[in-house]
Amino acid sequence: MSDAVVDPPPNPHATAEQVKAAYADPKLANVLYHDWEAGTYDEKWSISYDERCISYATDVFDAVAGEDGQPYPTAMELGSGTGFFLLNLMQGGVIKKGSVTDLSPGMVRVALRNAEKLGLDVDGRVADAERIPYPDNTFDLVVGHAVLHHIPDVPAALREVLRVLKPGGRFVFAGEPTKIGDFYARKLGQLTWWLTTNVTKFGPLSAWRRPQEELDESSRAAALEAVVDIHTFDPGDLERMARGAGATEVRAVTEEFAAALAGWPIRTFEAAVPAEKLTVRWRLFAYHLWLRLSALDKKILARVLPRQLFYNVMITGVKRP
Ligand SMILES: C[S@@+](CC[C@H](N)C(=O)[O-])C[C@H]1O[C@@H](n2cnc3c(N)ncnc32)[C@H](O)[C@@H]1O
Repeated sequence: MSDAVVDPPPNPHATAEQVKAAYADPKLANVLYHDWEAGTYDEKWSISYDERCISYATDVFDAVAGEDGQPYPTAMELGSGTGFFLLNLMQGGVIKKGSVTDLSPGMVRVALRNAEKLGLDVDGRVADAERIPYPDNTFDLVVGHAVLHHIPDVPAALREVLRVLKPGGRFVFAGEPTKIGDFYARKLGQLTWWLTTNVTKFGPLSAWRRPQEELDESSRAAALEAVVDIHTFDPGDLERMARGAGATEVRAVTEEFAAALAGWPIRTFEAAVPAEKLTVRWRLFAYHLWLRLSALDKKILARVLPRQLFYNVMITGVKRP
């Protein structure tokens, strides 16, 4: 049976009834929100498939899982979105052959298009992480980036990950929000949004105000975002959950404290003003600031602050041989 027969088509134009139903159904909300976002997702999150994102993806992977075992012959990504993590890991030499999966058909379509443009050996399926449509013992590696916090039953998804891994195979999930990190990131984001959209209401700064209908659309997207963002994680709890699912050699690592304290206001500010105001100079300033603060986090703050304070948590583990 071909993938085209099995997989449902994307739905980037949800009806008002579907959106209403989605507020009570996180999985439907995920499909609608991410189908809607798929076409512009890379641009919105500054995702690229060049050295900048290749080194980001490989650095994150190596920080939690190390370089042993690379290149993995086969790897599958859960909640791949447009392919940011898996495609950049493939380009960075971590993975040879890849499979992208996502609950959103629109995302799978864009990920496969991105892989084709890059000339990478990738296939794809629409898949719910709680019921992965692959046989037992299929992959050497399963990865995910910013996906676990969207899955209603995370322990069920981890059990599925271990089922589809070959014995001795590894999983790596990165980019998940910690409990404390999510709290301060949200507060900083809300404050920045309120300040930016209010000071640009009147006077000379009004040229920095996005049209009201665009601000309203961002607010509607943010409301649906609140439905799809289900969990935040304490690193220790996440490790216990992975062990409970049957994994061994489990390890959680956190990153980004100073980088998150600056990054969330900057990203929110960028979303609240017209795109043409964000000059190349501004974007370079924001990127270099983030690089410098990330280095401060890695070299100094990670040694002195408790891991729970950092914004991102990543976790790895192995299926018992
Ligand atoms: C925040 S996006 C991250 C996308 C990509 N991994 C990245 O880092 O750019 C989360 C992705 O997870 C997918 N997703 C949400 N719930 C899922 C589930 N139960 N099973 C599989 N994918 C899911 C969404 O459709 C979305 O594409």
